[in-house]
Amino acid sequence: MTFHHRHLLGIEPLHPEEIRTILDLADQYVDLNRRAVKHADALAGLTQINMFFENSTRTQASFELAGKRLGADVMNMAMQASSIKKGETLIDTALTLNAMHPDLLVVRHPHSGAVDLLAQKVNCAVLNAGDGRHEHPTQALLDALTIRRAKGRLHRLNIAICGDIAHSRVARSNIILLGKMENRVRLVGPPTLMPSQVGELGVEVYEDMREGLKDVDVVMMLRLQRERMDGGFIPSEREYYHRYGLDAEKLSHAREDAIVMHPGPMNRGVEIDGTIADDINRSVIQEQVEMGVAVRMAAMDLLARNLRAADRPAGVMA
Ligand code: NCD
Repeated sequence: MTFHHRHLLGIEPLHPEEIRTILDLADQYVDLNRRAVKHADALAGLTQINMFFENSTRTQASFELAGKRLGADVMNMAMQASSIKKGETLIDTALTLNAMHPDLLVVRHPHSGAVDLLAQKVNCAVLNAGDGRHEHPTQALLDALTIRRAKGRLHRLNIAICGDIAHSRVARSNIILLGKMENRVRLVGPPTLMPSQVGELGVEVYEDMREGLKDVDVVMMLRLQRERMDGGFIPSEREYYHRYGLDAEKLSHAREDAIVMHPGPMNRGVEIDGTIADDINRSVIQEQVEMGVAVRMAAMDLLARNLRAADRPAGVMA
């Protein structure tokens, strides 16, 4: 097993071998999760606190389930109701929680870099559940696992990431991961929704969906992140759907066996046609959710092993 990190803050610091380690362990947890009795004890005796400063359905629920299935004591902090509202800073809140001796802290925050900062202030392992536009490592890992299981490999694939790339931490983490695993990544969308340093990302850029999707193995759609937009990035949702919404005609330009992905939450009729999203022959959106629980179990298991190793008195062998 190769995984030498104290925290999981992003895909950037991970070696390809470490990515494979997480995915291989997650495959085992997929099997466990399909059984009637889903308990293992990798996190028994450990305390996991989930701190979500931004709304979340899938990510928070799957981190909670992942911790519970592995035997951790899991607490969800209701950040809307917490002292943050009374003016306490992120760091003060983190130090307060730190004093309760958690072992794993799962954090989502609207500001890029906030989770890294927090990780420097606490003694436990920190998992980034999405920070601003920066990274969302467990999403990229669950996407990678979904692709690897559907395509039988995670290298030399043509993958199109489409839509609102500029505001998307999911896109950023995926670009880094898929690049590390030697895939060809294309970004497809209007120039207003492309990140400013797109030239440095090692990707091909397309403005036209039909050209961008031509012969790809994977089509990854993204939500229009209106909460991160402060002006007119798109003319109208109708116009956007017409040019960039994934429908059967646009999808027909991809390979016949291309899979369709979306991290959720989806806006049907904005970035994706509902019938494509529900087409079990093309869409792996539900598999992504399933893989999300397994990947989070694997990530927390590996971090916990490193925690336990560090806890061992010097000179004592396992
Ligand atoms: C994404 C997120 O929060 O970054 N959702 C998720 O975690 N599944 C994408 C989004 O909000 O559009």
